Amino acid sequence: VSHLLGIKYLNKKDISLIFETADHFKEVINRSIKKVPTLRDITIANIFFENSTRTKLSFELAEKRLSADVVNFSAGQSSVKKGETLIDTVNNILSMKVDMVVMRHPNPGAGIFLSQHVNASIVNAGDGAHEHPTQALLDSFSIREKLGDVGGKNVVIVGDILHSRVALSNIFALKLQGANVKVCGPKTLIPKYIESLGVGVETNLRKALEWCDVANMLRVQNERMDISYFPSTREYTQQFGVNKELLNSLDKEIVIMHPGPINRGVEITSDVADSDQSIILHQVENGVAVRMAVLYLLASKIK
Ligand code: CP
Repeated sequence: VSHLLGIKYLNKKDISLIFETADHFKEVINRSIKKVPTLRDITIANIFFENSTRTKLSFELAEKRLSADVVNFSAGQSSVKKGETLIDTVNNILSMKVDMVVMRHPNPGAGIFLSQHVNASIVNAGDGAHEHPTQALLDSFSIREKLGDVGGKNVVIVGDILHSRVALSNIFALKLQGANVKVCGPKTLIPKYIESLGVGVETNLRKALEWCDVANMLRVQNERMDISYFPSTREYTQQFGVNKELLNSLDKEIVIMHPGPINRGVEITSDVADSDQSIILHQVENGVAVRMAVLYLLASKIK
């Protein structure tokens, strides 16, 4: 059985294949063909133990556009609340003849654990502060679409690196494709191991922006925050928030990204998030085609 558990388990060729397949699906969507019969015999369960807007809807749309049968599961309304374990939960869902499971879970490694204990194809839709592989794929796909290539580009990931599965998956994906990567944020929110991944560290936002072609602004994850780690929100915004004045003072126009959800006025001001420099909604749009590609390629191995 094949899985997508993290970018760590992919190589450059895998990413190219996913992007070529996503190009095809994006073209199909742009021709206003809303549905293709590709996954007609496949049933997919989306099981979410953590909140989501973009990832959940994007997977569901991708599945429906591929004509898969879809069931949705939210832990908050399930028997998980009565103490049922993850393995029991998923095995019960699988006994209803489900082929693939898309899972978001607060615990790092939850997808890997599940893949070792159940007989289905697992897609990691975010596991705690570990990985969010489809987010990184749609982010790189969006850079490729905007700048022609990811290789050789300077990309800075700004903000709460410590708690971010988006940061880790992006670092793996960008490095595989030959991008130069730096992280920028308060020292307290940058993990010690980051330089061992071949990533530069910059604590001055202006210097980081002067260096980069692309800035990926991360959300400050208050829900995962140990309060002793964190500068105050005001201090954070002053030092690491991006605003129009700062961008206008650079001698070039950089591409602004954000995985969402945005804390408007904290890591990014509205006049930047909603500007032509921002590709935030293109990222969301591309998520559907990229997830169609991932599901299609995985399903071709289980059919
Ligand atoms: N980017 C992202 O994962 O957003 P959601 O939490 O809304 O799915």
